[in-house]
Amino acid sequence: MWAKPPQRDFVARSFMIEPPKVGCHGHTHADEAGERPTTSPPWPTIPAWRQLAVPRPDECSRLDSAVRRVGQLLPYSAEEMMDAHKGSVSPKDVVASGDRSARLNPAEWASKLWAACRMGFPLVVCRRRTVRGVGAYFDLITDDGRLFYGDSFHFGYYPRKTETLDEALDAHTDLVGQLARVTPGAVVLDLGCGIGAPAARIARLNGCRVIGVNISREQVREGRLLIDALGLSEQVELHRGNALTLAFPDRSFDAVLCIEVAADICVTENARDRLVDEIWRVLRPGGYVGFSDLALSEAPSRREDKALRAIFYHTGSELVEDWPARFSAHGFHIREQHDIHAETMPTWTHIEGVYSHQAEEVDRRYGKHLADRTRRQLGEVIPMVRDLGTFPALSLQKPI
Ligand SMILES: C[S@@+](CC[C@H](N)C(=O)[O-])C[C@H]1O[C@@H](n2cnc3c(N)ncnc32)[C@H](O)[C@@H]1O
Repeated sequence: MWAKPPQRDFVARSFMIEPPKVGCHGHTHADEAGERPTTSPPWPTIPAWRQLAVPRPDECSRLDSAVRRVGQLLPYSAEEMMDAHKGSVSPKDVVASGDRSARLNPAEWASKLWAACRMGFPLVVCRRRTVRGVGAYFDLITDDGRLFYGDSFHFGYYPRKTETLDEALDAHTDLVGQLARVTPGAVVLDLGCGIGAPAARIARLNGCRVIGVNISREQVREGRLLIDALGLSEQVELHRGNALTLAFPDRSFDAVLCIEVAADICVTENARDRLVDEIWRVLRPGGYVGFSDLALSEAPSRREDKALRAIFYHTGSELVEDWPARFSAHGFHIREQHDIHAETMPTWTHIEGVYSHQAEEVDRRYGKHLADRTRRQLGEVIPMVRDLGTFPALSLQKPI
């Protein structure tokens, strides 16, 4: 039986009793992510006129031209970006009132534009994703993701092939929870926790505490609202931070969840070892990791690669990885290993379904041009993923 180390008391004080706050270890999580501290506004204070629900026409045209100018620098055309963000729903509206047809007010629109810039610039300047760019990507897509797919940001797992999307999303969460051997009273880390829906489910079903870490400021903000609304604030806490430089002491957690996040977190080859090192460091000896992620056995063609990046913000080569081998090389024991690839494929049918059955809403949000392009790109990506994909679901134990 593992004796509770003193560090765990530190975790308990910092993350379970105090209300969620950023920077409770003397420095902010934003610092870790290399960003401005979240104690100050993320960008210049929003002037009052931008907080109006409906912008004046001259304000619209000023914003429009600003978007167009920035858009010249991005891999997407300005028109595509404007179409993509003009009609979006504010996550606040979804959470607060369920009004899914509300339009962005200028402040929300500006924040979307800012996220689009932060996501796009690394691709233009570094020619690759960066940790902050990934955070910005999730800032940008979260409200659409919730509207079209729900509160879990992962593929569905369809062992019976007859599940609804919601059931399949939950089944995936439950599978990873089981692989992590989560027990009542355990202290569990959820790396790249999305908006906390999987953390909430695992906490509720297993009677454990879950601490989620996420690089996306918007997802942490929405996630805290969700956890509050579910009445789970005592059990689940979400913090903004970078999974590659965790602010937790060694051996703080009984289990670690890694639900379809590893490839998102690992923007470079080096980062893959850093991620596994960090998991090893914060996990107690004898503790388990529940892991799942889409990977490819080989890089796809250039054309498929382009389509994949447009849909997922990944290139194919970034997904080529043998996770079981990497975890083994770091000393983890693989206690269970499954390939759930075939059981995740029905999720694509749902994604395609959004673009056909909800075509009007999709076209309104993204613009017809971009929506049609995505429909074509899905037609290239799905067969490629079917042929080259693998989806390891692993139960990994740190030796005692
Ligand atoms: C595909 S989503 C999965 C989310 C969640 N696990 C779920 O199943 O709903 C990937 C998540 O990883 C987060 N993420 C990406 N890079 C990260 C990093 N370096 N540190 C922490 N979180 C990160 C994203 O913001 C996003 O929430």
